[in-house]
Amino acid sequence: MSTHASSSLRTIDVALGTRGYPVWIGPGLITDTARWRAMLRGRHALVISNTTVAPLYLERVADGLDGLQWSPFLIDDGEAHKTFANVGRALEALAQLGATRDACVVALGGGVVGDLAGFSAACWMRGIDFIQMPTTLLSMVDSSVGGKTGVNLPAGKNLVGAFHQPRAVVADIDTLATLPEREYRAGLAEVVKGAAIGDAAFFAWLEQRAAALNARETAPLIEAIARKVQYKAGVVARDETEQGERALLNLGHTFGHALETAGKYTVLLHGEGVAIGMLLAAKLSERLGMSDAGDTGRLHRLLETLRLPTAIPAGMDPAQLLALMRLDKKNLAGTLRLILWRGVGRAEIVSGVGEADVMAVLEAATR
Ligand code: NAD
Ligand code: GLY
Repeated sequence: MSTHASSSLRTIDVALGTRGYPVWIGPGLITDTARWRAMLRGRHALVISNTTVAPLYLERVADGLDGLQWSPFLIDDGEAHKTFANVGRALEALAQLGATRDACVVALGGGVVGDLAGFSAACWMRGIDFIQMPTTLLSMVDSSVGGKTGVNLPAGKNLVGAFHQPRAVVADIDTLATLPEREYRAGLAEVVKGAAIGDAAFFAWLEQRAAALNARETAPLIEAIARKVQYKAGVVARDETEQGERALLNLGHTFGHALETAGKYTVLLHGEGVAIGMLLAAKLSERLGMSDAGDTGRLHRLLETLRLPTAIPAGMDPAQLLALMRLDKKNLAGTLRLILWRGVGRAEIVSGVGEADVMAVLEAATR
């Protein structure tokens, strides 16, 4: 991958009026300091990162902060550290820095860092600027865009948070060179998800370019990220606070979260749970007569070609998975509410899904 910002730069605008922002995607963007530094309004910056990413990329960010009052704030690596306690520590760090209303938080890392940093920025003085510098594929195509920020509680994932949009997203694809293979593939699942929900032409393009994406070829990778971000930016612009359409972005998530939880968050990465979950949602949709076997087959083949898991891990119990699905935040009045599939490029929110149908799909997939 090149290390220079170049004509391969793509810019997607998230159209939210005065709160709109650019998502820059391309190589060499962190070291293209003039571009993102222009988004900082004041003299203070707190760079939030973690103990894995900071040794790799913090120095590049530091070069862009020359002359400002700034400090790093590092959390330990992992989902278990996306906590209120760490938000408290980040706010203490802002206080020590003497951060004023025009200070900026820079989130350097994957979705864990981005969600925590964004929430910290939302809380300090009731909301200051933040810039997302996503360094995982998942965070580039999903979590850094759209303004969902927050932390976990012992009672559950992402239970506390705020909608707080960043000032800019700096997706420097050079950082993906150090991303472990499994994390890269989990990010590809979120790319497939966007295409499966709302962009049939993109889905067909992914089928054509899967081998190039497996090889992490630069041009197709930038194109895939840009197309997914473009799709998500459109959804966010139409439904920022998830009153309707934005919920479609959760295709596969009710199944996926149940699988992640059943595996105690150590068996499956989020993107892996989403991959299996999308396929289960497709099978359920087929059973309910909403889509046909041809579409399910295309989704299955694409996920397999991208070397994502498609089967429920051995030892998971369908009854336990169904019980976990009953806890999903989308459910209403004790009935299951799921995102189901109308075939490639179309998804739909369906209320009152019968548990017997869900159970039949889970049982068939664990045989
Ligand atoms: P992550 O942040 O845990 O990163 C995955 C792993 O990769 C970590 O070990 C991290 O240290 C490491 N890493 C990050 N960048 C690296 C790099 N360039 N080189 C080497 N290692 C690197 O996980 P994630 O998949 O990026 O994000 C998952 C989180 O995102 C979850 O907390 C989830 O709830 C959240 N999320 C939020 C949204 C949203 O809209 N806000 C959407 C999807 C997911
Ligand atoms: N990841 C789902 C959303 O941003 O709404």
